[in-house]
Amino acid sequence: MAAYEYETHDYDVVVVGAGGAGLRATLGMAEQGLRTACVTKVFPTRSHTVAAQGGIAASLSNMGPDHWQWHMYDTVKGSDWLGDTDAMEYLAREAPKAVYELEHYGVPFSRTEKGEIYQRPFGGHTTEFGEGPPVQRTCAAADRTGHAILHTLYGQSLKNNAEFYIEYFAIDLIMSEDGQCQGVVCWKLDDGTMHVFNAKMVVLATGGYGRAYFSATSAHTCTGDGGGMAARQGLPLQDMEFVQFHPTGIYGAGCLITEGARGEGGYLTNSEGERFMERYAPTYKDLASRDVVSRCMTMEIREGRGVGTDSDHIHLHLNHLPAEALNLRLPGISESARIFAGVDVTKEPIPVLPTVHYNMGGIPTNYWGEVLNPTADDSDAVCPGLMAVGEAGCASVHGANRLGSNSLIDLVVFGRAAAIKAGQVVDAEAPNPTLNQASIDAAFDRFDGLRHANGGTGTAELRLEMQKTMQADAAVFRTDKTLAEGVTKMEAVAEKMSDLHVTDKSLVWNSDLMETLELTNLMPNALATIVGAEARKESRGAHAHEDYSERDDKNWRVHSLAYVEGAKTTLKTRPVHLDPLTTEDEGGIDLKKIAPKARVY
Ligand code: FUM
Repeated sequence: MAAYEYETHDYDVVVVGAGGAGLRATLGMAEQGLRTACVTKVFPTRSHTVAAQGGIAASLSNMGPDHWQWHMYDTVKGSDWLGDTDAMEYLAREAPKAVYELEHYGVPFSRTEKGEIYQRPFGGHTTEFGEGPPVQRTCAAADRTGHAILHTLYGQSLKNNAEFYIEYFAIDLIMSEDGQCQGVVCWKLDDGTMHVFNAKMVVLATGGYGRAYFSATSAHTCTGDGGGMAARQGLPLQDMEFVQFHPTGIYGAGCLITEGARGEGGYLTNSEGERFMERYAPTYKDLASRDVVSRCMTMEIREGRGVGTDSDHIHLHLNHLPAEALNLRLPGISESARIFAGVDVTKEPIPVLPTVHYNMGGIPTNYWGEVLNPTADDSDAVCPGLMAVGEAGCASVHGANRLGSNSLIDLVVFGRAAAIKAGQVVDAEAPNPTLNQASIDAAFDRFDGLRHANGGTGTAELRLEMQKTMQADAAVFRTDKTLAEGVTKMEAVAEKMSDLHVTDKSLVWNSDLMETLELTNLMPNALATIVGAEARKESRGAHAHEDYSERDDKNWRVHSLAYVEGAKTTLKTRPVHLDPLTTEDEGGIDLKKIAPKARVY
């Protein structure tokens, strides 16, 4: 057994991750007087939420008529009828409240002439249950909305006495013998010391796993750490086959150009100069849902109408828009286009390509953020002491495809919901749990094994192999053949984890070891994604299967659950929640409005 000395810290709640969801949960917990720690591997305001650009969806009606039920309808349709109806109602209903709270906390939103929060159009957001024109629902702070939110939430968390453990890497969860989460074991990166956090509630807010792919808009820190920790405790990952490609990543660099660019009047063209989205989505055109736009772009390229020397990308035009508008509403992406594509957006189009952007799947939760560990009798059974929020979790509010700007609102609505629930279930007066020493020892043994790994395969080499396999075989379009090959290749890649070589054996700022730990988290996420995709014999949302081009509600309107152990993945299913929170009589939505139908824009 590996012998590491460690310091123990007792809290009511420990939040792992300091992005939008982690900070909103931390703030909500601390405001209620719960002793709250936030453990994060990067400085809070460097979390990936800082890169969120276009905005946060809420039916405020500042720019024209809107209603929470229209937002709910758009989310249901966007999810391609895979989202949980109760969670989608909760999101749309609570969104305005959550945004006004942000405003009162101090988020510097852009303003209308009247001084109200400015809202822009975004893909898939409509009026009149999809029958009316696009709606301006996405609240924005220019094109730096995530930056504004993250800084505000960090300041407010400090003001409410939340304690931050910065540059602490969470190695593993501590679980009791009967399956209750009791805390988390961490490694402090800057001095090599070890820390055990004892908590009555652990909240995983670790973000997505975009870095399982070769080209992604996600930061290099998006390594699915929460999913990896959950999978190692035998907990499932849900709906992992649904990976979102954002239509407008900068060609070559992968950096995001916000959908807000099309919201402000930008449009896409092919090599013939044609605004091709008019053909595919006659009503909403460039503002169709982003899975649809990404597929259309891919089809244009495949059919030989891509732009550039290799005809392998598409043009995004903003050069017809007034320079003052670009400067006011889109200053960040104007700068990104200049730096990463060498383009002056007032004069030339930006070269763009669909790029991995978001993971709809994650650790299954109910709409309070409580992690689910389904049993044969109860598909909604809760894992006590554990919550997951934000991109790490799967509430499931985005189903098979997330609408743009529904991510930031997911972070704050469900981060806030987790705090409300914790206020009810965490007893601040009760003693902390007696920790299961065997679980702590197992975490240190795993850490030590990796630290001294002496095989023949470097971490960066194996990570690249995984990323290239995922990029090629779990792509925008998928076939039985590519997926079957992908599963075989990914299982072989995962087998090589036992042959890793870590060169640096030290404990202080050992990025070799940290990246190896991250790879052990990426790997189960990647496996669950490709195995889940291979099994799902239909097309739905972001899962576009060329051998099964239709959605199959009879057999596949069901959540997939992946249990990953080493290189082996076992799949099960869980029913989708079809019931909303409130009936029509109680002011809820008319169920006929959200009945499944063909998804056209
Ligand atoms: O395009 C964007 O600004 C991204 C927004 C989102 O993913 O929600």
